[in-house]
Amino acid sequence: MNPSVRTQDRLVVGLTGGIGSGKSTVAGLFAELGAAIVDTDDIAHRLTQSRGDAIPALRAEFGDRYIDGDDALDRAAMRALAFSDSSARHKLERLLHPLILARAEAELAQADAAPYAILVVPLLAQAPAFRRLVQRVLVVDCDEATQLARVVRRSRLTGEEARAIVATQTPRTERLALADDVISNDGDLDSLADQVDALHRNYLKNSD
Ligand SMILES: Nc1ncnc2c1ncn2[C@@H]1O[C@H](COP(=O)(O)OP(=O)(O)OP(=O)(O)O)[C@@H](O)[C@H]1O
Ligand SMILES: [Mg+2]
Repeated sequence: MNPSVRTQDRLVVGLTGGIGSGKSTVAGLFAELGAAIVDTDDIAHRLTQSRGDAIPALRAEFGDRYIDGDDALDRAAMRALAFSDSSARHKLERLLHPLILARAEAELAQADAAPYAILVVPLLAQAPAFRRLVQRVLVVDCDEATQLARVVRRSRLTGEEARAIVATQTPRTERLALADDVISNDGDLDSLADQVDALHRNYLKNSD
């Protein structure tokens, strides 16, 4: 049986949301309840770290100036390029997405002891290829002012920089249109945990 067939045996929920919406916090709460978590951001990070599997292809495509002395992707240089040049961004996505997909599929197949799995895909709305790995889409949503305040508090970004990133992402209404389930993260962490508990019970029912 190939891995894509195996992952269909069990419920896989795609978890998405804008920057700083609360995806990692929500994934942590599902993990505490026993869900398997596969995070495509972590996978992308590993693929592009020192001697990661994507490094040779990145070097061939973009040249040595985007690879640092440790054989890792120079993230700051690549971020600047991708931000200013949409064709370079598309090239980067065409190179990385199939590698991330394959790795995500393998990790989902490996984590088959858990009753269901949560696949964290921040770019799910922009990258439809990931949708074939999931049976449901869960969107973490919050008010844009709350989102910006949390991003600024957590990082060294200014409000202006955070707004610029949000502007490059899929608009909130488009993301919500993909959702089978929505978690509203405008309240406190207790409210978040209550919503995760309720969805967990549903997902357990859907996972047999
Ligand atoms: N309900 C909440 N109340 C207070 N703080 C919160 C709440 N939800 C999330 N946060 C905080 O907001 C920040 C962003 O949350 P988190 O890292 O979970 O978002 P994310 O969607 O994973 O972000 P990214 O897109 O950067 O991966 C974190 O510092 C987190 O601790
Ligand atoms: Mg996160």
